[in-house]
Amino acid sequence: MKVTIIGSGNVGAFCASLLAQKDIVRKIVLLDIKEKLSEGKSLDISQMLPIIHSNTEVVGTTSDYSKSENSEIIIITSGITRKPGLSRDDLLNINEKIIHSVTKKSIYFSPKSKFIIVSNPLDVMTYVSYMTAKVDSSRIIGMAGILDSIRYRYFLSKKLKISPNDIQTLLLGGHGDSMVPLYRYTSISGIPLQEFLSERENDGIIEKTKKGGEEIVNLLGTSAWMAPGASIVEMVEAILKDSKRIFSCSVFLNGEYNYKNIYLGVPVILGKNGIEKIIELQLNKKEKNLLNKSANHINNMINKLKLF
Ligand code: NAI
Ligand code: 2OP
Repeated sequence: MKVTIIGSGNVGAFCASLLAQKDIVRKIVLLDIKEKLSEGKSLDISQMLPIIHSNTEVVGTTSDYSKSENSEIIIITSGITRKPGLSRDDLLNINEKIIHSVTKKSIYFSPKSKFIIVSNPLDVMTYVSYMTAKVDSSRIIGMAGILDSIRYRYFLSKKLKISPNDIQTLLLGGHGDSMVPLYRYTSISGIPLQEFLSERENDGIIEKTKKGGEEIVNLLGTSAWMAPGASIVEMVEAILKDSKRIFSCSVFLNGEYNYKNIYLGVPVILGKNGIEKIIELQLNKKEKNLLNKSANHINNMINKLKLF
């Protein structure tokens, strides 16, 4: 099995490294527009693998899409990233052109591939990729919900002094300040979160989660890549192993949750075909209002796209 990662920057290269360490794919292709970047990073990853006993072949290329031919999964991380003072939404029109162009070239060489989109603003870039690829929406999936969920689990675990491994949660909505973490659908080893934390106390944790990406941008001058890279690998593994895991992903809604023609984060079952099922939760009034706000925000950005 072959996986291609477009964009060999922080997220792309870290994702390639983690995936190679798992030894679950035969070949990883790293592709970037910047001369020699992918070649150098793939060589570095390859030279690490004997220690880990991984047989994955990692190759790099500068813009030669023929090397990505017949990939099972294409991961798109190319584009500009956040800097202090820049929101995800500020990246819109530059990344729109990049995502359109790289999707077009990738789908030509891998017409049956599933796509995982990572570039920001995430939900809108996933929409751009879908509109460009013109394939079934089950194959074009945005990564954000897993990252936002693990940030929420991390902050909750610190507050409650428990292992993050025992926290199960789901988020809805767009990747950004309008994300909708679900207090009612969060549990700790099956015990509802309400038993541990009031909704008011939880609101503080949610605020920290919403600002989780920004906090790292302010510390590093660029956005996070390790937790995002690990989140992408979770999705790749679920697809390649057909493990039917339930994650929040950004997916195309065609009537689900009463939305149409939008990419929005909702719980789904991930398997060999990509999105195998969208899970519709019963939302209360507060959750529905928050989700509406998030959907409106994404729709406003979709309306600002220049190519569609
Ligand atoms: P980065 O700047 O380290 O890497 C981006 C790479 O894309 C660069 O190497 C650049 O040369 C390449 N690139 C630009 N145009 C290209 C093109 N036309 N073809 C091929 N390669 C091209 O950025 P980083 O940190 O890796 O982030 C990548 C994207 O992912 C950003 O848009 C960032 O905001 C987003 N992101 C999304 C997350 C999520 O949860 N969905 C989490 C973290 C980052
Ligand atoms: C993050 O949440 C920048 O979207 C990226 O870290």
